[in-house]
Amino acid sequence: MGFPKDFMWGASSSSAQIEGAYDVDGKGLTTWDYDKKHINPGCCSFKYASDFYHHYKEDIALMAEMGFQVFRMSVSWARILPDGEGAVNPKGIEFYKNVFAECHKHGIEPLVTIYHFDLPAALEEKYNGWHSRKTAEAYVNYCRVLFENFKDDIRYWLTNNEYNVMIYYGAVDMLTGKANDLNALYNTGHLQLVAMAKAIALCHELCPDAKIGPAPNLCACYPASADPKDTIAAMNMEDLRNHMWVDPLVFGAYPKSVFRYFELNHIVLDIQEGDMEALANGKPDFIGFNCYGNETVEHCDYYEIDWSSMVGGDNRDMSYLVKLTEKPGVGRAVNNPYFPKGEDGHAFDPSCIRITARKLSDRYHLPLIITENGYGRPDVLEGDGTVHDSYRIEHLRGMIEEMRVGMDEGALLFGYCPWSAVDLVSTREGITKRYGFIYVDRDEDDEKAKTSPMKRYRKDSFYWYRKVIATNGEIV
Ligand code: BG6
Repeated sequence: MGFPKDFMWGASSSSAQIEGAYDVDGKGLTTWDYDKKHINPGCCSFKYASDFYHHYKEDIALMAEMGFQVFRMSVSWARILPDGEGAVNPKGIEFYKNVFAECHKHGIEPLVTIYHFDLPAALEEKYNGWHSRKTAEAYVNYCRVLFENFKDDIRYWLTNNEYNVMIYYGAVDMLTGKANDLNALYNTGHLQLVAMAKAIALCHELCPDAKIGPAPNLCACYPASADPKDTIAAMNMEDLRNHMWVDPLVFGAYPKSVFRYFELNHIVLDIQEGDMEALANGKPDFIGFNCYGNETVEHCDYYEIDWSSMVGGDNRDMSYLVKLTEKPGVGRAVNNPYFPKGEDGHAFDPSCIRITARKLSDRYHLPLIITENGYGRPDVLEGDGTVHDSYRIEHLRGMIEEMRVGMDEGALLFGYCPWSAVDLVSTREGITKRYGFIYVDRDEDDEKAKTSPMKRYRKDSFYWYRKVIATNGEIV
């Protein structure tokens, strides 16, 4: 069996993390262009990133050399609409037209995320971002601009990236500092879901040949033991972490169990007239999902969240999801002794895609594409221009081998886009933490980056992934 002939291999990126050129050719500022408290001290900003804006031809040619059939990228809302709404920036349209044309020239299908964290700053300032229905309206209008301008260029759209993680991480609140208010955060999630459903319906109307789906971060949740209480905790977690963010789009309803969590935690979703109808009318054609690992959950009665450490600082080992679950009505995430550890002590679960994709296939009966998966490490560029990232190869190899078995077992996967194609700026940890198959020669110094040629180098994983793609996953 193995991977079907038309399986799509590629990799991912996002506008804010790769493009740079933050104030070039009429682009408006985004919340990510501010120096943010969530960026670790000493790390670069997103202003210059990997300068994909000026290197896109070279980068796409390198992706073609690896044999990519798909490139997941996002459009910067503020490059298209500098104020988030109103006047369209023709230079923004032109830039993405050029990028899409370059992809097509090389036989690469762009998989385009409409919104990947980088909200136009004007919407944050005017409307308090996703706390207002005005931002949701602006989003739907922005989608209309995209669909009208790019209907002949794009076959695969993704709505919002990790809108579920945004709630837990507080990313939507980076300027307003309201990350502590669970009620407000869940309501921003509801607004995003309704807006996404409207965007899906609009896409179906304006681009009947295109397909569109969401891009949440999803992962299977394992019970920590055979104690039925742990199974219930894992089920609660899966409903709150995963199903709540997909069920409304596919089934037009939230999973019932989350309302118990809401009640226990004094959260009231402001579901207004027309919201549930919009959700029922915006069914996605496929589900894209980011999958870096799984969660293991055990029963617990009640823990206080230390919200102060939620935004800012690196809390990898005390993840936002751990904090999320330390509330009545879920259970808590714990370490899993069965996850192998890399040489840096990082625990990962090679089965995460296999198991998660099987569960999602059974629940939603929709095609699935992996929109992110990967391993961030501080790669070293050697004097001879090589980068020996065997740890990344090992990590991805395990995922792909397991994914192949998962497909034989019924997982409805049609593509794999690990994070990332080219090195880019991590959400909190600068450019030192790298994910790409292609190395970008720059460091954390923004001043230097301004004028740096940012030369590209092929990592060992570049050659390895090229072989994987050439053999359609036979040789890993
Ligand atoms: C995903 C995001 O959560 O994880 C990406 O969609 C992000 O934008 C990626 O870069 C890796 O996380 P980090 O924090 O290392 O950038």
